[in-house]
Amino acid sequence: MHHKILILGACGQIGTELTIALREQHGVDNVVASDIRATDDAVMNAGPFEILDATDLHALEDVIMHYEIETVYLMAAMLSGTAEKFPMKAWSLNMDTLFHVLNLAKDKKISKIFWPSSIAVFGPDTPKENTPQLCIMAPSSVYGMSKLAGEGWCQYYHLKYGVDVRSLRYPGLISWKTQPGGGTTDYAVDIFHKAIEDGAYESFLSPETTLPMMYMEDAIRATLSIMESESSTLKKGMAYNVSAMSFNPQELAHAIRKQRPEFQISYAPDFRQSIADSWPDNVSDIEAQKDWQWKPQFYLEDMVKDMLLHLNR
Ligand code: SER
Repeated sequence: MHHKILILGACGQIGTELTIALREQHGVDNVVASDIRATDDAVMNAGPFEILDATDLHALEDVIMHYEIETVYLMAAMLSGTAEKFPMKAWSLNMDTLFHVLNLAKDKKISKIFWPSSIAVFGPDTPKENTPQLCIMAPSSVYGMSKLAGEGWCQYYHLKYGVDVRSLRYPGLISWKTQPGGGTTDYAVDIFHKAIEDGAYESFLSPETTLPMMYMEDAIRATLSIMESESSTLKKGMAYNVSAMSFNPQELAHAIRKQRPEFQISYAPDFRQSIADSWPDNVSDIEAQKDWQWKPQFYLEDMVKDMLLHLNR
């Protein structure tokens, strides 16, 4: 029998592409997509789909039992921008869902979990350059606090109960298939849509706000790769730094202008500026390279070309 997979938050920015990739790899019927509401037709119509509120433990358990799920990808979360507006709601969503899947694994109802962490676990006192896996964290955003707490719980459930939970600290993710929702790094996706529609973009981050970023194709590859890894050096329970590229709005605009010389950018920083200022410029992923052979394929120029090519169609 095939290994069955459940994706929570399958209609979101990562979930959409992850669902497609997992279905290609494991067969459509072995990958159950779910989300709190049905939004993405490509995901819903292409295979099994359930409307599921991941904070509802009973509903979650029912779906897991019904499909005999072994692996859960928990992609439902409230991102950094929205979480500042609804701190309590963000905390419950981000933490309750994690506890549900960790406890289901502890009770042997599922056997493997993927849970995404983020560069948001770092804070204003963290070294900005080449940020190591472990250093002063002290995040200042609600989202970052939930991710850092989540990392601690993943580590705890792994050490204490042997739960197989794997995790990555995603940088800002850039994709053309699905829009992000409510994050601080969203500007790096919005900018492409506006470049094509209006030839101009007003950035909510200042020109020199450098942040770690990754093209979605690399993020999906990293996710599949850490989940498949049987490497004896892989540290289960640990959220790995993964890095690909790093740029600021000014540099991104410059790269877009190489393809679209008429493109204009202006700046009107909002409340997300202080979140961005508290995050690293770039992170060191030496441990991911060593432990499970991580290597990105997309850098700024290729990413910009690919984004404009697909969005133009
Ligand atoms: N991209 C996310 C955000 O901006 C960080 O994980 O919230």
